[in-house]
Amino acid sequence: MAATLRASENGLKIVDELRRKKGWSKREKAWYQAVPTSESTLKRFWEQKPIQQEAFVGICTVLGVLNWEQIIDASEPHIAEKSETAVATKIENYPPATTCQNIPYTGAIKFVGRQTQLETLHQQLQQQERIAIVAVAGMGGMGKTELAVQYAYQHLNDYPDGICWLETGAKQNIYEQIIYFVQIHLRLEVPQELGGKELNFKQQVDWCWQNWTGTGFVLVVIDDLAEFPEIKPYLPPAKSRFKVLMTTRLKLTNIQTLSLDVLTLRASLELLESEHLVGKDRIEQEPETANVLCEWLGYLPLGLELVGRYLNQVPDLSLSVMLFRLQEKSLEHRSLIRQQNDPFWDLTAQRGVAAAFELSWEKLDGNTKRLGKLLSLFASTLIPWHLVESVEQQRCQRSPKGEKFNPENLEEATMNLMSFHLIQYNGEQSYRLHSLIMAFLKSKLEA
Ligand SMILES: Nc1ncnc2c1ncn2[C@@H]1O[C@H](COP(=O)(O)OP(=O)(O)OP(=O)(O)O)[C@@H](O)[C@H]1O
Ligand SMILES: [Mg+2]
Repeated sequence: MAATLRASENGLKIVDELRRKKGWSKREKAWYQAVPTSESTLKRFWEQKPIQQEAFVGICTVLGVLNWEQIIDASEPHIAEKSETAVATKIENYPPATTCQNIPYTGAIKFVGRQTQLETLHQQLQQQERIAIVAVAGMGGMGKTELAVQYAYQHLNDYPDGICWLETGAKQNIYEQIIYFVQIHLRLEVPQELGGKELNFKQQVDWCWQNWTGTGFVLVVIDDLAEFPEIKPYLPPAKSRFKVLMTTRLKLTNIQTLSLDVLTLRASLELLESEHLVGKDRIEQEPETANVLCEWLGYLPLGLELVGRYLNQVPDLSLSVMLFRLQEKSLEHRSLIRQQNDPFWDLTAQRGVAAAFELSWEKLDGNTKRLGKLLSLFASTLIPWHLVESVEQQRCQRSPKGEKFNPENLEEATMNLMSFHLIQYNGEQSYRLHSLIMAFLKSKLEA
């Protein structure tokens, strides 16, 4: 579809800001040469007149706008159709499909690694002939949502009767989102009463699953599951053609799970080498520092992406100075925080690093939080648990209230930290913490 697009008022402001940073005039020659487009098209762009999509995207991306969709005037008709084209342009090599879907736009600059995980995920979802529920689990910022987005786009053709993306914690409840999808995307009228009897939400959702169009497989993604009981009543029925993929920071015991770990060093460098982040040249100038930077960030996709984006905005900043600043300020460094109302925020991630961890932290009870803070005092991220026990015993002995050491309290707190992916069992009675989680816990202790 050769769509035409025009910029919104706000979109133009973003482009204008980037243009000024680059030191370009509104008619800069280099601009329409780089895209390539014509001077008159550029003029039309500034006048908020419709121009060809290809030129529109070019004009935005040359300046470094990563999510050019945010520049579009969304009040234009057929914008939804254009969004689908936009995604297809960005998600290269994915099969054309007619699957009805509402998969979110990916902000990933370059999707790296994760090939094995994508294959495993597909196998797990296909294992049962009928309903399969698989959870992609891991700590905040690990790339769970991104993996689900990439999986969904790659497998559009495997789910011919729809990919329904649901988000917990969104403005609409899960049941509202299911009903909305069925009404808007499948164009079915969901009844509010049957045989003169009013249907409650659960019954309306059941109606949706039963009357879903077609006979092929359907993928239902539940992104960012925070509490299983919240969504359980609305899951598709057993022995149905639905496959459910959930992303969660929780360790669910009864659900088939794909645990996501950090990226490899190679994938981390590949991500940073992207021209929209640090770029190959800068990495080649300081290869050793680049490795240390990845290590400091614990190979966490969110951290790598945020720091890479920051370095992209400050082209003269060396990697070693960046590393020094990160070591000084830790998670408080501005690159790792999502500034309020940041008009340039176009990532898949919703928040900065500490804020992503905070979501898990705020679910912990006092006993678990205390253990978390205590762990931050250890010198290494690999902790033999007998040391934790003995520190805890000493703390109890010295407590003015004469607290009694209770091994079960410690066990429970340990289990809780594990359940939220804040620590991992490393075998031989030792536990491991991610370096940024360690930094986060330190900040909690200091606070
Ligand atoms: N394999 C990858 N390649 C490139 N970028 C990635 C990759 N995985 C994740 N990212 C980027 O890292 C950021 C964090 O990923 P994502 O939001 O998927 O994490 P998450 O595990 O869902 O976090 P949360 O638990 O906070 O929801 C995103 O902006 C995403 O685009
Ligand atoms: Mg997520």
